[in-house]
Amino acid sequence: MCGIVGYTGAQPAQPILMEGLSRLEYRGYDSAGVAIMDGDRIRLLKAKGRLSNLGALLKGSPLSGQTGIGHTRWATHGEPTDLNAHPHTDMKGDIALVHNGIIENHARLRGMLEERGCAFSSETDTEVIAHLLNLLWDGSMLSTLQRALPMLEGSYALAVLCAAEPGAIFCTRKDSPLVLGLSSQAQYLASDIPALLAHTREIELLEDREIAVLCPESVTVYDAYGAQRDLRPTHVDWDVESAEKGGYPHFMLKEIHEEPTALRKTLSAHADGHMLRRGVIPITREEAQSLSSLTIVACGTAYHAGMIGRYAIERLARLPVAVDVASEFRYRQPLLDKDDLFLAISQSGETADTLAALREAARLGARTMALTNVVGSSIAREAAPNVLYTHAGPEIAVASTKAYITQVEIMLLLAVDLAQKRGVISEEEASELLADMAEIPAQAGTLLSCEESVARFASRHYDRRHVFYIGRGMDHALAMEASLKLKEISYIMSEAYAAGELKHGTIALIEEGTLVCALLTQPHLADKTLSNIREVKSRGARVLAICTESLQEKTAAAADEVWAIPDTHPILAPLLAAIPVQLLAYHMAVSRGCDVDKPRNLAKSVTVE
Ligand code: F6R
Repeated sequence: MCGIVGYTGAQPAQPILMEGLSRLEYRGYDSAGVAIMDGDRIRLLKAKGRLSNLGALLKGSPLSGQTGIGHTRWATHGEPTDLNAHPHTDMKGDIALVHNGIIENHARLRGMLEERGCAFSSETDTEVIAHLLNLLWDGSMLSTLQRALPMLEGSYALAVLCAAEPGAIFCTRKDSPLVLGLSSQAQYLASDIPALLAHTREIELLEDREIAVLCPESVTVYDAYGAQRDLRPTHVDWDVESAEKGGYPHFMLKEIHEEPTALRKTLSAHADGHMLRRGVIPITREEAQSLSSLTIVACGTAYHAGMIGRYAIERLARLPVAVDVASEFRYRQPLLDKDDLFLAISQSGETADTLAALREAARLGARTMALTNVVGSSIAREAAPNVLYTHAGPEIAVASTKAYITQVEIMLLLAVDLAQKRGVISEEEASELLADMAEIPAQAGTLLSCEESVARFASRHYDRRHVFYIGRGMDHALAMEASLKLKEISYIMSEAYAAGELKHGTIALIEEGTLVCALLTQPHLADKTLSNIREVKSRGARVLAICTESLQEKTAAAADEVWAIPDTHPILAPLLAAIPVQLLAYHMAVSRGCDVDKPRNLAKSVTVE
């Protein structure tokens, strides 16, 4: 989705803005632009396509000045063109702004502004804000913004330059992320923390409708009622290297290789030795026992982590679990009350549908919790203090890998915790499971050495037109994620099927040479899945099976190729099996020459409905 950066200080703004924008490229975009104060005049340049197009324009006519804003746009209203790219200005060019989000009443505002003589130069919803600010201008951008914001419906993160107040950047947000980066000599803003890491790790989070005024040596924040409030900076421990490729050809590959560390860090944040840390999972024994159900809501990969959670929690804690995609949940008049636990899962903590679902669950009186990777994100703040954090570090590749695996890890910890608090498993059983879990990071590290054979397999099969993933139980949940990973980065049509469901229709698509990837990590279901492998094999499929070491021999008798993962407790097996399936998607995409880190049409953080 769109990215925003801003800088005011003593250095030339252009290179700082361009560097910040390059760190937001991963979010997905189709045009870019910058506006910089040159004395008391705003100058701007924008270009359709990659950031390098804007870079080429700036090389020809650089923008001087030490205060500026920049934007990468992911088109929603209007085609990706030079004119629709941000920043947008009022007619005189005295106000320039960049915006993330959607102004839902833009058509009405546009009509009102056109009646008053405003001529629009783009098709965007954003441009109405620039004209509106000009119309309401009272000599101070702060008070003009304070009067304009109540007229805007929808979501926004906004950064505004104004010729009458050079040296200052005005910014505000509602339901769209925006963070400030503080330092003594210069101030920064961005829609996402990685854009700030090269300059500062002191982050100020803005609440909805707050307005911040950034000057080179000061930042002033006004609350939604106009009162000035104290700064409350948060220190983030992400380092710059974690937002860089560090010698890997793609962020996705680097992030897969970071999985053992991410698993270790997440586990040690929630467990001490073989004991869960007290109070980390914010639910008491009494509450756990009185629960009638758990509802998990998320989107995409996070939804798939929730699916694994369902199997683990129902199996271990004997609590009914429903898992729903957030965009459906919010509109289906869900039935929840105070005896229901609700968990929103979101890597970014900013996904609009998941945030709305969380709000709906809270409105219905359910006990709400969130699982996220980003401290201070909207979802984390909305669910505070009931937030479980993954410690995956910044995830830059659009395709989620290390965030997914740590979300699954937390779901398993939640299952153990609930099972213990509900009296379904004993302390010894819980501690045995945690002991097995403590082995996972090292086992995951060993598994990464399978990469060469995965790459060889991919080089033989990358030209497939479609691929099926099958599995039962937790393996079905993992198959869904494996299939999403493959299709989103390699553009191969792929489907995940519950292995036993295939014969109720979809098996008609199996023909000579169809690639089927079967997952077998659950010993009690292995024989059933082996039968399903035989069904597709006898119709011509070529079967790759991913199974545990102890199932390797019998699986090898049925499948064409077998990759084994180390044996572990069956509930933990998806943590290991996720690695070969992620590597497979990666190498298929690389073999097909795809832009792995920035797949077409996708954005890292989906902050619109
Ligand atoms: C796919 C992927 C997406 C996200 C989804 C939710 O690899 O990353 O499917 O999982 O957009 O995003 P978050 O977790 O940020 O809410």
